[in-house]
Amino acid sequence: MKFARRLGEVPPYLFAELERKIAAMRAAGVDVISLGIGDPDLPTPEAVVAELTFQAARAETHQYPSNRGLAAFREAVAHFYAERFGVDVDAETEIIPVLGGKEGVAHIALACLDPSDVCLSPDPGYPPYTSGPLFAGAELHYLPLLAENAFMPDLDAVPQEVFERANLLYLNYPNNPTGAVVADGFFPRTVEHALEHDLIVVHDASYTEIAFDGYRPPSFLETRRAKDVGVEIFSLSKGWNMTGWRIGWIAGNAEVVERYRQLKTNLDSGMWDALQLAGVAALTVARDFPAEMSEIYRRRRDLMVAALAAIGLAAEPPRATPYIWTRVPDGYTATSFAELVLEGAAVVVSPGPSFGPSGEGFVRISLTVPDERLEEAAERIASSLQGTVSSGLRPSLPTKR
Ligand SMILES: Cc1ncc(COP(=O)(O)O)c(C=O)c1O
Repeated sequence: MKFARRLGEVPPYLFAELERKIAAMRAAGVDVISLGIGDPDLPTPEAVVAELTFQAARAETHQYPSNRGLAAFREAVAHFYAERFGVDVDAETEIIPVLGGKEGVAHIALACLDPSDVCLSPDPGYPPYTSGPLFAGAELHYLPLLAENAFMPDLDAVPQEVFERANLLYLNYPNNPTGAVVADGFFPRTVEHALEHDLIVVHDASYTEIAFDGYRPPSFLETRRAKDVGVEIFSLSKGWNMTGWRIGWIAGNAEVVERYRQLKTNLDSGMWDALQLAGVAALTVARDFPAEMSEIYRRRRDLMVAALAAIGLAAEPPRATPYIWTRVPDGYTATSFAELVLEGAAVVVSPGPSFGPSGEGFVRISLTVPDERLEEAAERIASSLQGTVSSGLRPSLPTKR
């Protein structure tokens, strides 16, 4: 059989070896705790589940939905943007539902990029910022997110000839995997660059509702003229514990939204009406739910930062996102440290390079496991690796549990 070359063009999957080790340890009876993936452990708000149950029983929801989305869904989104961000988005022309943020992130590349175009993608970054453009046949230009720049891309460092060919720029704040929040003045400078170089900006706002210590992450659309240059992708997955539901939207520039709708009519048949109405419940009845989740993640964050400190790793407590991005100790690569944590504490963390080459030297720790499991992971990391990290010794294998 012959398959399309594009599948071979996406970067190699760095978790593969780690996954093999996890499977072997589990088969040997070791109790492995995975802090590797950002999938909330707690249930969806009850009011949202109840609304879906009610809507699912109504025959009116059983036919094809429209790709434009129900007016009730788009109006709830517009109301949410007005109330949460002070941003005016037109429910008629500037909003379209997507089947989870991932659909929006990956497919918008097909609507915006031709094979001769360049896409500017953050590195490290959510993998579809790379695979989406590659599937569109475009070239990638990585924007390194470095600790010394507070994990903000340096747009002034992009060569003029790259800007001339670039047509799409992905951004994501609060950021996965670094947990960074947007620096003051960055969004306005982005709009200036986009206007100057005729770039479409796609801001991924998947984590704006998970934030701590009084910080309220902004929307890109709050920036003056942002709607002239781009859109924002929003998702109910993280803030409302709805990763399985696949509910998100794209909001902003009407032309991008319309082109996306045109693309979507050829790819899928929209979001089930019952789901859209459950989404409305999330944005209205369960509107304050993400604040409760944020308090849970804040507690977990503090617990894990303390455990890392006990093995000599001074991780910066993030102001948003359920992730801790921490530098690995001297003498380790991201992958060798992830292996050390797996072998010494039976805890899985994500090696930074799985999000892009600039992730080397870091690992990402996800706080999306039940409190008692996170406490146990923190204790295992602190007790089984203490001394090991500074001495560079391999830990002894964990006892079976
Ligand atoms: C930065 C970022 N964007 C988008 C998504 C996709 O979320 P969903 O497709 O569940 O809305 C994720 C999921 O991990 C993410 O980390």
